Amino acid sequence: TLRGSFTRKAQKPNQSSNHGLQLQASYKVAILGAAGGIGQPLALLIKMSPLVSALNLYDIANVKGVAADLSHCNTPSQVLDFTGASEIGNCLKGVNVVVIPAGVPRKPGMTRDDLFNINANIVKTLVETVADSCPDAFIHIISNPVNSTVPIAAEVLKQKGVYDPKKLFGVTTLDVVRANTFVAEKKNLKLIDVDVPVIGGHAGITILPLLSKTKPSVSFTDEEVEQLTVRIQNAGTEVVEAKAGAGSATLSMAYAAARFVESSLRALDGDGDVYECSFVQSDLTDLPFFASRVKLGRKGIEAMIPSDLQGLSEYEEKALEALKPELKASIEKGIAFAQKQP
Ligand code: NAD
Ligand code: LMR
Repeated sequence: TLRGSFTRKAQKPNQSSNHGLQLQASYKVAILGAAGGIGQPLALLIKMSPLVSALNLYDIANVKGVAADLSHCNTPSQVLDFTGASEIGNCLKGVNVVVIPAGVPRKPGMTRDDLFNINANIVKTLVETVADSCPDAFIHIISNPVNSTVPIAAEVLKQKGVYDPKKLFGVTTLDVVRANTFVAEKKNLKLIDVDVPVIGGHAGITILPLLSKTKPSVSFTDEEVEQLTVRIQNAGTEVVEAKAGAGSATLSMAYAAARFVESSLRALDGDGDVYECSFVQSDLTDLPFFASRVKLGRKGIEAMIPSDLQGLSEYEEKALEALKPELKASIEKGIAFAQKQP
């Protein structure tokens, strides 16, 4: 199954079905920005999930063809397309998980923050509708700059009186996927076994892989730590430059986002052993939002894992202090934007 390709955990039988002997669960997922570079492959991967019964695709353009195409796959979920302000409410009705990859991607020479002016508005408007239509859903924010768009989403949800910090997630799974891949390559490990937590945020030096907490336990030279950390931090830029103007990571991002959706659905379905890194409201540091490993449950974040931030290497301690000013500024920029809007 798809699940097997994302995680090394054995598949557990579904114990929570309302339908007696039925083994498949039935969750509704919506993608906002579904016709884009990330949206299309993400929709395909979610269409393959046995946990999904309905896949609602929303975009401002070109979504009809994407839905028609996907709907011919003989997997269980029903695919529907929605477009325009008059249809987004229906798209979101009854949805358990909303994934938001809507917005513009980087071109070479740009930072993620350079996307703020366009994407901040897009995320704000979309989350307002989410607040009105499916306030109980898990919300997965992919649109950059994640360090600011998640605080924007939180403010919008607060203004609407429906903010549940346990259900708002900035998707940083791609940083973990990259860290796992690069570490396995460097140390000649079996990829499926490697798990590196990545904390902080999702831009440049705010991305902090905790190589000292790699599982299985691996030792790195100081030079390897430096080289791997910098590669993981710059991996998005590596793809932006290779695509040379045609956008940023889409396929690896879709893979990572599908893993995060699948983990969320397993948690909703009662699996008590689901952990993912995500950029969330947090009290682990003095910053109001911070990426770290969280335990997911039926109601969203079930537990933070403070021990992950204890016993860091000297290199990691320093990097953690160094990333805080930039992350703080990005969070505050998002909050200020959302608060100054009428
Ligand atoms: P893209 O331009 O290929 O696709 C974006 C889609 O969003 C388009 O189909 C567009 O029509 C749609 N869109 C724009 N405004 C919209 C609106 N108001 N409502 C609904 N849909 C709207 O871009 P992409 O490559 O898919 O990237 C999307 C975003 O994801 C970018 O901001 C990018 O920086 C970000 N991203 C984040 C990560 C991460 O790790 N979190 C990784 C890769 C990319
Ligand atoms: C990534 O990490 O690939 C994304 O955030 C896209 C980007 O702009 O680098």
